[in-house]
Amino acid sequence: MSYKNIIVQKEKHIGIITINRPKALNALNNETILELIEAVHDFHNDKKVKVGIITGEGKAFIAGADIKEMKDMTPLQAKEFATMGHQLMQLIENSTVPYIAAVNGFALGGGCELMLACDICLASKYALFGQPEINLGIHPGFGGTQRLTRRIGKIKALDLLLTGRNIKADEACALGLVNTIVEDNVLDAAKELAESIAVKSSVQIGFIKELVNKGLNIDLKSACDLEIGYFSASFSTHDQKEGMNAFVEKRQANFKDK
Ligand code: CAA
Repeated sequence: MSYKNIIVQKEKHIGIITINRPKALNALNNETILELIEAVHDFHNDKKVKVGIITGEGKAFIAGADIKEMKDMTPLQAKEFATMGHQLMQLIENSTVPYIAAVNGFALGGGCELMLACDICLASKYALFGQPEINLGIHPGFGGTQRLTRRIGKIKALDLLLTGRNIKADEACALGLVNTIVEDNVLDAAKELAESIAVKSSVQIGFIKELVNKGLNIDLKSACDLEIGYFSASFSTHDQKEGMNAFVEKRQANFKDK
């Protein structure tokens, strides 16, 4: 598949998506969202891809949904656009592939929402986050009112949502939106982190991601029961036997992702 608005690369077990509309600060238009959906599907179906990275070309990660495209939308078109955006975020969130957002610059509106759908966030010291939709007479349409609130809590989310103010990487880190602020190249740091995950068993990578995400949306007792089921299933895998034998034999485990 060839893409117009994104660049997709695969390096060993890492899939990298770079949003490549730098002149529009990587704003998400219809076409870009469709391409992202396609790329995330492809990573999900490619057994070789164990970790995904999403980043942006130029000075922006993503400066939001494309305002020029949205400007004249009818309510029906806006509904279709938001539905498609939500589909992308859910695909990222529900994929067994963990996604690292390598936030190189502006992560505003839909960009902040896409970061929130990812599993880990590394930010350049120049990154800027925010949900400025209120300044445009709208509110976030790709899950921002929901995922931001679940991530940082109601009063902090409402502060950002109601003021529309942008925050720097250090404040985003203090709020729990960012795992680490990177001094040098954020994509290099994301690749290094991805490689450290990719050597693990992809069965467990997927199990852990599913447990964390599913567990957050159900009550604790049901979530813990879910964990018991996955724990038990782990003992049917090659990688459980290999991991524990390797520990006992004092050697590196050689996981086979099965
Ligand atoms: N949509 C479309 N085009 C955008 C864009 C966006 N979200 N953000 C930036 N651009 C375009 C600008 O229009 C400009 O294009 P032209 O050269 O053709 O004029 C180009 O990118 C460069 O932008 P600026 O000149 O504004 O660059 P700057 O460095 O001065 O400012 C910025 C950068 C602060 C990010 C500013 O561009 C900005 O505020 N952008 C909009 C941010 C925003 O409001 N995002 C939320 C969008 S709504 C949304 O996301 C809804 C949703 O949840 C679904």
